[in-house]
Amino acid sequence: MMKAQTAVEIHDVLANRRSPRSLDSTATLSDQDLVAILEAARWAPSANNGQPWRFYVGNRGDEVFNAILDSLASFNQGWAHRSSTLIVVAGVHSREDGTPNKGFLYDCGLAVSQMVFETHHRGYVAHQMTGFDAAKAAENLGMDSSLTPVAVISIGTQAPAEHLQGAMLEREVAPRVRKELSEIVIKGLPL
Ligand SMILES: Cc1cc2nc3c(=O)[nH]c(=O)nc-3n(C[C@H](O)[C@H](O)[C@H](O)COP(=O)(O)O)c2cc1C
Repeated sequence: MMKAQTAVEIHDVLANRRSPRSLDSTATLSDQDLVAILEAARWAPSANNGQPWRFYVGNRGDEVFNAILDSLASFNQGWAHRSSTLIVVAGVHSREDGTPNKGFLYDCGLAVSQMVFETHHRGYVAHQMTGFDAAKAAENLGMDSSLTPVAVISIGTQAPAEHLQGAMLEREVAPRVRKELSEIVIKGLPL
């Protein structure tokens, strides 16, 4: 695993995490670990503690998993079918008084970020996707109209990159790259 190059050391999970596509198609997630991952999301901060995130969780082979897999873009279906678990994150887009909750996407992203961290901390890997048909996911899952599908998260156990082929293999072994800190910190970078 190639560690992120950082100016100052950061948490190992953050430095080592990546979004792999080569997954072990026989591996499963224990109930204990799955609950921990959902707890990590649950305890995310949100504006006014509104907690607008909702989750649909499918384990490989079950009805929810197949409903989610069916909504993925074909490129994503090509690797994500080997996930142990697929989770749709959906957001409550309106407040109780009917006005739009403008921050729901931000809050959902925070919950996913915590979910991803806990996943990697527990030795699994997570891969977020927006390459999916949100309307299809909503229909397949019988989603309430108060919810907007935001993303799909694949959770699984990483397999050797060589299980993939062609462009997918190339992407799997490519180094993780990021813009320089000096490009993204517009004012106030100390070092
Ligand atoms: C919101 C979001 C949507 C993404 N959608 C997809 C996707 O549909 N398919 C895919 O293979 N990867 C997807 N990714 C993974 C990104 O390509 C990946 O996080 C990025 O290239 C950085 O790589 P790293 O996570 O390994 O550091 C998505 C990531 C995020 C955060």
